[in-house]
Amino acid sequence: MPDAKPIYVLNGPNLNLLGTREPDIYGHATLADIEKACADRAGQLGRGIVFRQSNVEGELVDWLQEARDKGCAVILNAGAYTHTSVALHDAIKAIGVPVIETHLSNPAAREEFRHVSLVGKAAKGVIAGFGAASYLLAVEAAALLARDQESPAA
Ligand code: DQA
Repeated sequence: MPDAKPIYVLNGPNLNLLGTREPDIYGHATLADIEKACADRAGQLGRGIVFRQSNVEGELVDWLQEARDKGCAVILNAGAYTHTSVALHDAIKAIGVPVIETHLSNPAAREEFRHVSLVGKAAKGVIAGFGAASYLLAVEAAALLARDQESPAA
């Protein structure tokens, strides 16, 4: 698949601190470790990735809009913006590219304020609770969705 569009992997606030941030909840893998694991798995599936992190909500909106033309699917761990951001919800609705909401932890099993997901109300599906492996499961899902979109009969 030489012209296959990449999977966008977008990470929100505080995920730059992975490895040292509450490791009992989020594990010991750094975001760089996760990026490498995603790139390796996507490569095995014939895809590239675009991997980014920002603490700024609007930047995540810009990258979702970029993925509208340039990406085949989006893996989005929006961090705390998952629970608050109408702007991310609306961007997901606007782009028409499948978005997989992804979390290291399982927000449904945590504090009540994490039980609402505005991202999830617009996303294609959710993968949560498997630590860094959530990202690899999301890469699998993204590659499947992209393949189905590119050649629906396959
Ligand atoms: C998180 C879960 C969110 O509730 C939290 O705000 C994060 C990380 C996760 O990956 O488990 O920043 O998205």
